[in-house]
Amino acid sequence: MNKSTRTILAAALASFCLTAGSIQAQHQAQNITIQVSKPTAEVKPTMWGLFFEDINFAADGGLYAELVKNRSFEFDKPLMGWKEVKQNGGGTVLIINRTAANDANPRFARLTVDAENGTYGLLNEGFRGMGIEQGKQYNFSVLARQQGKGNLKMRLELVNEKGDKLGKSEIGDLTPEWKKHTISFKATATAPKANFQVLLQGKGVADLDMISLFPQDTWKNRPNGLRKDLVQMLADIKPGFLRFPGGCIVEGKDLANRYQWKKTVGDVEDRTLIMNRWNVEFAHRNAPDYFQSYGLGFYEYFLLAEDLGAAPLPILNCGMACQYNTGEVVAMDELDPYLQDALDLIAFANGPVTSKWGKLRADMGHPAPFNLKLLGIGNEQWDEQYIERYRVFEEVLKKQHPEIMLISTSGPSAEGPRFDYLWSELKTSKADYVDEHYYKSPEWFLENATRYDNYDRTGPKVFAGEYAAHGKEEQDPESRNTWYSAMAEAAFMTGLERNADVVHLASYAPLLAHVEAWQWRPDMIWFDNLRAVGTPNYYVQKLFGANSGTHVVPALRNGAAVTGQDSLYASSTIDRKTNEVIVKLVNTSKAVAPVSVSLEGATIQKRTAALQVLKAANPMDYNTLDKPQVVVPTERKHNFSGNTIALKLEPQSVTVVKMPCKKL
Ligand code: AHR
Repeated sequence: MNKSTRTILAAALASFCLTAGSIQAQHQAQNITIQVSKPTAEVKPTMWGLFFEDINFAADGGLYAELVKNRSFEFDKPLMGWKEVKQNGGGTVLIINRTAANDANPRFARLTVDAENGTYGLLNEGFRGMGIEQGKQYNFSVLARQQGKGNLKMRLELVNEKGDKLGKSEIGDLTPEWKKHTISFKATATAPKANFQVLLQGKGVADLDMISLFPQDTWKNRPNGLRKDLVQMLADIKPGFLRFPGGCIVEGKDLANRYQWKKTVGDVEDRTLIMNRWNVEFAHRNAPDYFQSYGLGFYEYFLLAEDLGAAPLPILNCGMACQYNTGEVVAMDELDPYLQDALDLIAFANGPVTSKWGKLRADMGHPAPFNLKLLGIGNEQWDEQYIERYRVFEEVLKKQHPEIMLISTSGPSAEGPRFDYLWSELKTSKADYVDEHYYKSPEWFLENATRYDNYDRTGPKVFAGEYAAHGKEEQDPESRNTWYSAMAEAAFMTGLERNADVVHLASYAPLLAHVEAWQWRPDMIWFDNLRAVGTPNYYVQKLFGANSGTHVVPALRNGAAVTGQDSLYASSTIDRKTNEVIVKLVNTSKAVAPVSVSLEGATIQKRTAALQVLKAANPMDYNTLDKPQVVVPTERKHNFSGNTIALKLEPQSVTVVKMPCKKL
């Protein structure tokens, strides 16, 4: 059967499931038996995790709460994001490059000011504006010095789109040596698209660098930290791991622009900015102002993983640039620096504070190790050139760090000759996990809930590292995140859960997207400068992540797994920590599906089950920042008698049932 015939059949099958398939189910309850006393696999604590990549302004302009864009004038166009402001005064701005003195952060702005009776300075536009909230405190900092004599004072102003002031402060006495000045002020009004002005008053020459403005109210109130609302949404999923920093960003378009973790740690002003590869990746979504400041670097990723209670899972470049772009590879006899990066990363994360890299971690504020156990070698690499390089990493890392589990890749597709070749090679290796990616239609997800039922149990385990159901879109950026796509993912995820002996980790991708600055959709969470919205796909991830359980137990209908027969998908786990049986049920039909769930081998503690139901009025419904509550879960209690719970599953719904039992 060729691919297009398969696709047509899949679509027909899906529509059959969604319409006629369950008319029968309306009348007749489907009996599902949960074999509570027969666990088949442990659900690894890592099972449901997060994939983070700096795409769609996920880091700068997103999670990283810095409000100033191009704070160190290192963008290709050094004044991008900045505008001169003259108020009864004049002046000029010159960008000076001092590479020999400061290789990491060579440029600064020199402002020659003639404004005895006014001001001259620069306005920063932020990342599609700056989100400012009334009553909140904002922390400003700048590296500054004054050249020669002068009487310059610095005035700092937050202004809204109309130019009205939302907050201001002043700094005087610029010194001849570089000095960091900091000041904090309160915003008097809310504005989603504010700008920030650094104005100089008097006469003289001032040098400015690292001009920064952060909300004080960040995640855990960390200075220069992360956006609290976004991190909270991630925490609510209760993720088992955090994969970072991507994605293709690891690879770079070419090797010179690959992700190099060592350039993302240490003092923030010493982290060398580079262009973000998503800046020019898609002609229809060009983002010429997309760079990586690395304010959110590897230290911050490790810290975030720790905060979320998630295992850190960094992916490193393996000496290969993106094969969709240049496909450049490093010569085999020059692979050492790449390998050294991996060894040094393990030292940075886990090494003693007396070691070079452990000391850096301690100096940055975290003497305790980060407990790194998972490490990815390469992102979506393929063909012999990957295997050749991967094997070098494996040999050295397995010898020196047997405690680290290695993740290899099966390339960008979920099947095909490249995929098959990589798997066949990796089966003969010591890879612990193979990373699989699938961006497919919702129908594919519905059809592939059995994907892992017959997978080889002897080789490396599976990391479903990037997946999302891609459907059609409308005008709204969020419109690809339909309930239909989320429901299809949920159906597929019952298959991942049922096969938790093979699939140890899974993550939806990408994670975050700015509604005005995205390059790729669908995405799990959409945000603007002040708000964030969970997509239906987010709520599915949350349902699975927050209700994972500790062991898989069979959920059987007529002795077989429930994988789409009569439009019903199911999986079940027990939680030995909370003594609950957890059943996940996905009804993709347009009709109510009566089901009768019997617990075999369990002693019920309380005959009240907790139900969480996610559904929508229409399969094409989605949430937006303006209408965030279209598809959200609801919770209720459900009483039952004996060991059987009778449910009427709502049309096109995902239901999670939790039943308290005596010791499991
Ligand atoms: O998630 C977006 C991109 O999709 C990732 O960067 C890449 O790994 C995949 O092709």
